[in-house]
Amino acid sequence: MAKSARVEETLSYIEQHRSRFEEEWSELLRLPSVSADPAYEKDVHAAAEWLLEKFKRIGLEAEFLPHERHPIVFAESPRIPGAPTVLVYGHYDVQPPDPLDQWITPPFEPTRRNGNMYARGATDDKGQMLTQVFSTEAWLATGQSLPINVKYLIEGEEEVGSEHLDAAVEKFRDRLACDCVVISDTCQFAPGQPAITYGLRGIAYYELQVTGPNQDLHSGSFGGAVANPAWVVMRLLADLADDQGRITIPGFYDDVEPLRDEERAQFQNLGFDDRQFCEQLGVPDVHGEAGYTTLERRWARPSYDVNGMWGGYQGEGAKTVIPATAGAKFSFRLVPHQDPTKITVALREHLEKQCPPGVRLELREWHGAPGFVLPLDSPYMSAAKRAIAHGFDKEPVLIREGGSIPVVTTLCETLGADALLLGWGLHDDNPHSPNEKFSLHDFYRGIRTSAVLWREMASGNSA
Ligand code: BES
Ligand code: ZN
Repeated sequence: MAKSARVEETLSYIEQHRSRFEEEWSELLRLPSVSADPAYEKDVHAAAEWLLEKFKRIGLEAEFLPHERHPIVFAESPRIPGAPTVLVYGHYDVQPPDPLDQWITPPFEPTRRNGNMYARGATDDKGQMLTQVFSTEAWLATGQSLPINVKYLIEGEEEVGSEHLDAAVEKFRDRLACDCVVISDTCQFAPGQPAITYGLRGIAYYELQVTGPNQDLHSGSFGGAVANPAWVVMRLLADLADDQGRITIPGFYDDVEPLRDEERAQFQNLGFDDRQFCEQLGVPDVHGEAGYTTLERRWARPSYDVNGMWGGYQGEGAKTVIPATAGAKFSFRLVPHQDPTKITVALREHLEKQCPPGVRLELREWHGAPGFVLPLDSPYMSAAKRAIAHGFDKEPVLIREGGSIPVVTTLCETLGADALLLGWGLHDDNPHSPNEKFSLHDFYRGIRTSAVLWREMASGNSA
């Protein structure tokens, strides 16, 4: 059968099965697979089981790869000798849904509204990951063999730093062997303007606990006499950045490479509008390190954020108290070449030096991952461009993103593979926030692009 006839059949299967795809996507979204909270352990497993069964139903060999914590789902298509092999990486775990009172419809009751699917995980990453599964189903269900070999590695710990995955990739490197890793867990540059992401930032995530007196104290009797842990947390955190938005930990910038003029010009050419960005977020102005544009600060410069803080009285009215303890969760986004382990050593030393006497300080490292920039000369890059141009009716732009996908560097280095980060999300999809959504239009554009991608990757540079 002619090449185009085969892909046409696949694409028409996708059109015919829309409502079932949405039903299945909803089934997975109903499972609250929150990896950060042990209370959801069973649901995380249920999501893994759901995927395992799905892979088997569409004709792949699938199993859990034995490993430390939440299951890794592995699946592979019937082997076609001589064809390239793609490893689709994705995650079925999601971020905690709080604050619950800000959701218009409950986070684990997927709801279609205004052309979007609303639910925790709708885009990040259940919806996006499924686009890469339904495309394979469409090829196989139309009685055709896939044009390439497709393997899947779908994990349940991405949102907590993929702590155990590096070891598993090493252990199962032969099973995972591939030419190219494909990931749909990023965004378009703008609605209808698709993108290929060639760089992500890394991360170093911490929890700080400061403890003072053995119990809460009357702030009149003791104020001025003992250090207040909440004040110490505030001071330590505030002092981690200066007025120019630069991080003050000695050595923090040692491995940061300056942005190349050429790349700065490329970012500039994308036509990013600060005012529109502020309007979308409801903020009066942008903020961050002096001397860099907003895109540069989001994509290619380190940043520092407090993710949560606690300590002292938070109830109704006023209470005069010195809390016995206070703490915070905070993180740094890192750029390529910064090593999270080195950052931890420098941070610990710095905080211990800055901490006033009279309190005890405890620093816990939650997770760390390096940032990366992918080479742009992969032969699969042009296949991806063609597939996206087909699925979105628009040529993709090349971008970097500020988020992190911890395992990418390990996958590329251990498997000696290229990687393609092809995301269909939008920047107002609210991942990690209330009312997460994914546009149905983008869901289908993603499935179609993925279906065409399998063909384009098979045909190398020639199609
Ligand atoms: N899908 C995101 C990664 C992402 C975010 C890509 C924004 C592009 C733009 C991913 O699931 C994620 O949120 N990762 C975490 C990793 C962390 C917990 C180690 C992140 O970036 O916070
Ligand atoms: Zn994600």
